[in-house]
Amino acid sequence: MARTINSRVSWVGKIDWELNKFHGEELSTRHGSSYNAYLVKGTAKTVLIDTVWKPYGLEFIKQLKQAINLSEIGAIVANHGEVDHSGALPFLLKLIPGTPVYCTANGVKSLKGQYHEDWNFQVVKTGDRLELGGCDLTFIEAPMLHWPDTMFSYLSQDNILFSNDAFGQHYASEKMFNDLVDQCELMHEAMKYYANILSPYSAIVIKKIREILDLGLPVDMICPSHGVIWRKEPMRIVDQYRQWADNYHENQVTVLYDTMWNSTRIMAEAIAAAMADYAPELRVKVYNVSKHDHSDLVTEIFRSRGIVVGSPTYNRGLLSAMASVLEEIGGMGLKNRKAVAFGSYGWSGEAAKIIAEHLSKAGFELVNDGLRHMWTPDQEALAKCRSLGEEFAKALD
Ligand code: FEO
Repeated sequence: MARTINSRVSWVGKIDWELNKFHGEELSTRHGSSYNAYLVKGTAKTVLIDTVWKPYGLEFIKQLKQAINLSEIGAIVANHGEVDHSGALPFLLKLIPGTPVYCTANGVKSLKGQYHEDWNFQVVKTGDRLELGGCDLTFIEAPMLHWPDTMFSYLSQDNILFSNDAFGQHYASEKMFNDLVDQCELMHEAMKYYANILSPYSAIVIKKIREILDLGLPVDMICPSHGVIWRKEPMRIVDQYRQWADNYHENQVTVLYDTMWNSTRIMAEAIAAAMADYAPELRVKVYNVSKHDHSDLVTEIFRSRGIVVGSPTYNRGLLSAMASVLEEIGGMGLKNRKAVAFGSYGWSGEAAKIIAEHLSKAGFELVNDGLRHMWTPDQEALAKCRSLGEEFAKALD
């Protein structure tokens, strides 16, 4: 059902209460999500900004028909071609063929590549404007936020930025607006979204925010393509993004381990306890990576000044859950953080070295060569673990 945003703009998207995984099975979404689409009605032209994920395409069209006679849609703006926003386009453009689709040059490639249709594409660049009668949309290219094709659209007369994925959250809510929802949930979901989706592009985020601020555009509302709309103090999420993009961390260390017969777990706990004893102000969190959701772990890593990572040696390598987490860490693009590796073993003992290599390649500064222990930790081994924990906490001072 359409929801009124203001006298010109209405929301015509889909709230997806069921979604618990996104990007295939890669990203957990504990509070569902939404695919936000918007209708902007000028006196001369009505524009649809984005659509919804393909499985909801026909439902979207049905709802859209209740909000507007489809023949009155004079243009479609495809801010981003990923299927969660473009999925209903093939259905819609069968009903209103020839309707111009405004997108970037990369948007054409993306949409053609996915749908193999030669729609009436109108390529736009930063600064191009679409007159709607009494109002206009200005386009701002935003490559890599989240794909090369992404752009923002800005409605000058109402000071609304349609930011697509940027400033989004996988957060389903009937409330629609940021001031009406639980603030802790909202900010946690916004951070998880940033850490898992946008963190690799932090340098681009900083540049884009600076560029938008330099344009001096007033922003009264930010309408992203997922989650709630930022209408109360919308620039706070922009400032938050600037902080998250700029080597953000909290006073936290995260210990990540996997274990077969508990030796690496015992090492992890001894290291964590020593860090907590040495630095009472430091938040120390400990996770078995086989038992915790990896998207949540990415969020914890994002918040951390340093990480301590351990695995037993298994078939001359790592346990597979740890290998998977290290792959995710490698893609996060994190900088200025410290790390150390550890692990138990029975005979060959490669794991700690392999972990250290992954962490170094991911951009972490290793505080030392790591700690390996053969068989079950005894008192002497536990003392070494405690020393490592203290050394790591000191390195963060
Ligand atoms: Fe929400 Fe990059 O799609």
